[in-house]
Amino acid sequence: MRKGLSILFSLLFSLNVFAQEVQSPDGKLSLSFELSGDGEPTYSLSFGGKPVVQKSRLGIELKELPAFTKGFTIVKAEPSQMDETWAPLWGQEKQIRNHYRELAVTLQQPSVNNRKMIIRFRLFDDGLGFRYEFPEQNDLKYFIVSDEKTEFNLTGDHKTFWIPGDYDTNEYAYTTTKLSEVDATKGKAAQEIAFRWVIAANAVQTPLMMKTSDGLYINIHEAALVNYPAMNLMVDRQTFRLSSHLVPDAVGNKAYLQAPAKTPWRTIVVSDKAADILASRIILNLNEPSKVRDVSWIKPQKYVGIWWEMHVGKSSWNYADVGNIKLAETDWASLKPNGKHGATTANTKRYIDFAAQHGFDGVLVEGWNVGWEDWFGKWKEEVFDFVTPYPDFNVTELQQYAAAKHVKLIMHHETSASVTNYERRMDEAIRFMKQHGYDSVKTGYVGRIIPRGEHHDSQWMVNHYVRVAEKMAQNHIMLDTHEPVRPTGLHRTYPNWLACEAARGNEFNAWSAGNPPEHETILPFTRLMGGPMDYTPGIFQIKLDVYQPGKKEQVHTTLAKQLALYVTMYSPLQMAADLPENYERFMDAFQFIKDVPVDWDETRILEAEPGDYLAIARKAKNKDEWYIGSITDEQPRTSNLSLTYLTPKRWYVATIYADAANAHWENNPMAYQIRSFLVNDQTKLKINLASGGGAAISLKPASDEDRKKLKPYQ
Ligand code: NOJ
Ligand code: CA
Repeated sequence: MRKGLSILFSLLFSLNVFAQEVQSPDGKLSLSFELSGDGEPTYSLSFGGKPVVQKSRLGIELKELPAFTKGFTIVKAEPSQMDETWAPLWGQEKQIRNHYRELAVTLQQPSVNNRKMIIRFRLFDDGLGFRYEFPEQNDLKYFIVSDEKTEFNLTGDHKTFWIPGDYDTNEYAYTTTKLSEVDATKGKAAQEIAFRWVIAANAVQTPLMMKTSDGLYINIHEAALVNYPAMNLMVDRQTFRLSSHLVPDAVGNKAYLQAPAKTPWRTIVVSDKAADILASRIILNLNEPSKVRDVSWIKPQKYVGIWWEMHVGKSSWNYADVGNIKLAETDWASLKPNGKHGATTANTKRYIDFAAQHGFDGVLVEGWNVGWEDWFGKWKEEVFDFVTPYPDFNVTELQQYAAAKHVKLIMHHETSASVTNYERRMDEAIRFMKQHGYDSVKTGYVGRIIPRGEHHDSQWMVNHYVRVAEKMAQNHIMLDTHEPVRPTGLHRTYPNWLACEAARGNEFNAWSAGNPPEHETILPFTRLMGGPMDYTPGIFQIKLDVYQPGKKEQVHTTLAKQLALYVTMYSPLQMAADLPENYERFMDAFQFIKDVPVDWDETRILEAEPGDYLAIARKAKNKDEWYIGSITDEQPRTSNLSLTYLTPKRWYVATIYADAANAHWENNPMAYQIRSFLVNDQTKLKINLASGGGAAISLKPASDEDRKKLKPYQ
């Protein structure tokens, strides 16, 4: 009888009559997998019984081989589960729970010699991850992916926070429209971005943040992007079906794989609370644990740098104003200096002094090395050598000066996207760093990629970024990548890869129409889903006409909001981006930047709505101190902040750095007020944020003296 039943079941199974169902550990999310009539794999996802993704197709197309898209039967569907807690080396919390139910479906194609593919689903309480796996088999060893056919069949015309789908850049400002109104051709007007490759009018990038009309928040991205190109999404503006679009390589192929192989995870984070999207750690959980064994040298850090002064035009990266340089043939000392070179020995000492005086770990110096005269937009192979300083930058003297003051110089490797050049010179560049006491590097990829025809987000470049992270790790060097593919949680695997830019950073405020006041309320729901961002906050001199009369660019926030960004824009690497002389004018406000940690025990999302506002409280690592950042878009608002997470029965000093009553990002951006009060876990703070404004708060245990001196908050 039992045997008969099991034969019947396996028969039904092979006929694919059953849909495979999985529930998240808390039962709220449910995933269903089934094969359609002609053996196409499909999945659907629902939240509390409401469909999130309706039946959607899955599959991969190959070059010169039959596709992995249909004609499948199910060999087996293996459920399993995981519940573990792990400790990141650094992060938004000291422990992360990895709790999911898994379904691994092995499929085979009888018409292709029973060729097999596995689709592995992991369903967490806050979302889904799935990927394709290709076991080694007779008919599959080396193969070329020509297309991925993953679909996300959405239920309606959701509100969407998007940037254009693009093979080369993610430095766009966000547009908020319904899915039916996406028009990425707008991106073609973004002249301020060095190099763009807009895919099509209906293409968008991930992380893609959406909100349904009945209040569900949905975020689509990917995790563990290695040895594969990045995924953009094509939007069907009538049916609201999204489909994957992989970035091609120089000859139009998508990925070169060798079995056994796997794709990155496709992720869908979903909740009826916006805060849960930010609290989700499924992307980290889907990444591999650290491959770096000795991590003792890796340290979250704050830095200053010779940087903003070039962006605002006060000084230059280049030493001479000449436009045609051959790297190997130039006698740099014979060039006529332009008189505004930023990276001089004297200026660097000034920044080192400032860093030492105020407790910063590092000083970034850009423009220290030869080649900046014609680095930009030439698609030039031999653009930098990464080891030759300009004549006015004495690297040995600065090494000693910095060491004596316990400050580290941060190396800068702008590649100008000439990546073959960088790869050839990387070993020597690293030797130079080791010799001169550098243990962190900021890299950059401005412009058009060499090897010519490759893209910033194609498989070859994805592998390059990982190669750099690995190589730097072997040499005990921390990494901050600008203009790379957007992150997908790989900082778990390479914890020396502290941060990336990979989005529109604060720098755009210096020389373009800038970042609208809502920008920083969107980034945490989009770009930051994949990992920390080197946004470079902390600009105090908001209006930039002080550098050149008539300069109309400005930062699109209040000064107080710049402080709040140290908390709302998570990163273990934070720059105090303004000039020392500007901080010296506002030392009381600067105190917050000096105090704010870059590593945390705990994170609480207090208020959140993408595109509108965000308030986050974080507990300092190994300290009973909390820091809050609260920001708004162009709408002024009152932020109501509870403090229930403070240690009960203990008084704290809350120092509140807030917008002054008459502050406004455009009309009066630098008006702030700082007040201190006694608070405890019962206190409710009510803080007014100006248009484009914000508030930053430090909460430290009160001394007896504080308790005498200060009043309780009312
Ligand atoms: C773009 C980077 O994002 C910026 O930080 C850097 O200063 C310039 N490239 C020059 O490398
Ligand atoms: Ca950039």
